[in-house]
Amino acid sequence: MQVLVTGSNGFVGSYVVKHFWRKDMKLLLLRQGKTHHRFNQTKRTGKPDDCEQNKQLADLVNVDGTAHLMTASAHFQSHFIFISTDFVFDGEKGMHKEDEAANPVNYYGETKLRAEKLVKDYEYKWSIVRTVFVYGKPLYGRDSFVSMIAKKLKNNESYQVVNDQYRTPTYAEDLAKGIGLIVQSKIGGIFHLCGKDILTPYEIAIKTASALQINNHQLQPVTCKVFKEIAKRPFNSGLNIDKARTELGYEPLNFDEGLRKTLY
Ligand SMILES: NC(=O)c1ccc[n+]([C@@H]2O[C@H](COP(=O)([O-])OP(=O)(O)OC[C@H]3O[C@@H](n4cnc5c(N)ncnc54)[C@H](OP(=O)(O)O)[C@@H]3O)[C@@H](O)[C@H]2O)c1
Repeated sequence: MQVLVTGSNGFVGSYVVKHFWRKDMKLLLLRQGKTHHRFNQTKRTGKPDDCEQNKQLADLVNVDGTAHLMTASAHFQSHFIFISTDFVFDGEKGMHKEDEAANPVNYYGETKLRAEKLVKDYEYKWSIVRTVFVYGKPLYGRDSFVSMIAKKLKNNESYQVVNDQYRTPTYAEDLAKGIGLIVQSKIGGIFHLCGKDILTPYEIAIKTASALQINNHQLQPVTCKVFKEIAKRPFNSGLNIDKARTELGYEPLNFDEGLRKTLY
């Protein structure tokens, strides 16, 4: 089997590559960096604040980039798997299911939703994977929230962390396994692949401190009114994973297990 992974040196991409790295698999890797093939010449974006600040670039990468990849994919009649986000929802009630109406509160969510709509018109098999707050050991370059907080704790830095937004944090290896199940089973449609525990970023940070046995930390819980970010965030954006459990046999680790694997 051949799998082409875009963003292969990104946080999620590096775990997907690790998952598929087997003798019987031919892997083709795309990223923006100079040593690999580029699908366009634009600068990296993706994070909600970057998208809010540069809407034109967000359109180019998240929407037009997806459309270009689908055109290439259709040429080979390939199964197209698009990684989307919990941020397509407004987070008013949380634990959203796949078939609920989307209503993004920021431009990042808007571009991902527009890309999802294009993917639904793809003429061959397609799957949309929505995931949430991905964490794990950094395999290639950038930190996840957990490893960033661990560094701040070890350096005894003071840091404000939001405590009024709820997420279902996703261990990166679970996400990659879930994507592997979709590839293997060739099931199309939308799937929510994330963790099973509902936590605020502050609760995640406190669990990280306790796993590291650091009691004298300088983490401060704040509300999102105090912790100002450029892009608005949904309050309760966690996702319901029942469909993935039933149809794919997806079963993620609980947060404490994922945390241990991230830190040790
Ligand atoms: N991380 C999360 O918590 C999370 C949550 C929900 C959804 N997602 C989705 O998961 C996907 C991956 O996210 P991530 O966190 O792994 O991002 P990331 O670590 O920032 O990695 C992004 C990857 O995309 C590549 N890239 C960016 N712009 C490009 C361009 N114009 N042309 C070619 N390659 C480009 C980057 O290449 P270079 O490094 O070479 O620039 C990098 O490999 C995204 O679609 C995101 O919306 C992530």
